[in-house]
Amino acid sequence: MIHLQNIRKSYKNDADASPVLSFDTWQLEAGERVALMGESGSGKTTLLNLLSGLLIPDSGVVEIDGTDLAKLSEAQRDRFRAGHIGYVFQTFHLLEGYTVLENVELGALFAKGHLEEGRADALLKLVGLGERKHYLPSQLSVGQQARVAFARALVNKPKILLADEPTGALDRQTGHQVLDLMLKTAIEQGITVVCATHDSDVASAFERTVRVEELR
Ligand SMILES: Nc1ncnc2c1ncn2[C@@H]1O[C@H](COP(=O)(O)OP(=O)(O)OP(=O)(O)O)[C@@H](O)[C@H]1O
Ligand SMILES: [Mg+2]
Repeated sequence: MIHLQNIRKSYKNDADASPVLSFDTWQLEAGERVALMGESGSGKTTLLNLLSGLLIPDSGVVEIDGTDLAKLSEAQRDRFRAGHIGYVFQTFHLLEGYTVLENVELGALFAKGHLEEGRADALLKLVGLGERKHYLPSQLSVGQQARVAFARALVNKPKILLADEPTGALDRQTGHQVLDLMLKTAIEQGITVVCATHDSDVASAFERTVRVEELR
């Protein structure tokens, strides 16, 4: 399902000559749920961005469901991402001028086809925000914003969910609620999950943990 081969990734403006990521192979089966751990600056976000095609490696292959992301044009990659991948960003990236419902609906913008009638509503109910769908993000608590970001990530029925420290800004209890919801949904729908986290307690909820430093 996810297959990475001979990956090297450095940033051009990085004076440090050694690449941020450099490893031979990494593979994930469909439906696997993996916690991605590592020191701050070790490359977790970089790896998630490679998996989503938001970044392309300097060399090597990122293959998702048999598609080599580097062989797609940028527009094709955007469409591919919309069709296959849900991404919960570390700081959620909700659009401030739009309501909660609109934020979730906008997640469908790049996808092929149309937003299924009632899908965004149903997802907001799933995350417990059905009553607040007409609020603006600024009118929500941080934990509620995390749940909107999660609902948006699911709007296109992705096979893969990437989450970048989705509980990092939340208190323990709220963090666990978001995490439980994410894992329960992933298990029910067979979604492959890669979740970056600093928290070994969060990581322990996953089937396995990969440390970025140990990818060689
Ligand atoms: N756009 C960029 N330009 C230059 N260097 C970058 C860029 N993005 C990340 N880096 C560098 O790449 C390294 C890995 O960054 P990355 O954000 O992937 O780490 P991380 O493991 O997600 O860290 P954190 O846990 O703090 O979020 C860092 O040394 C960082 O400075
Ligand atoms: Mg990061």
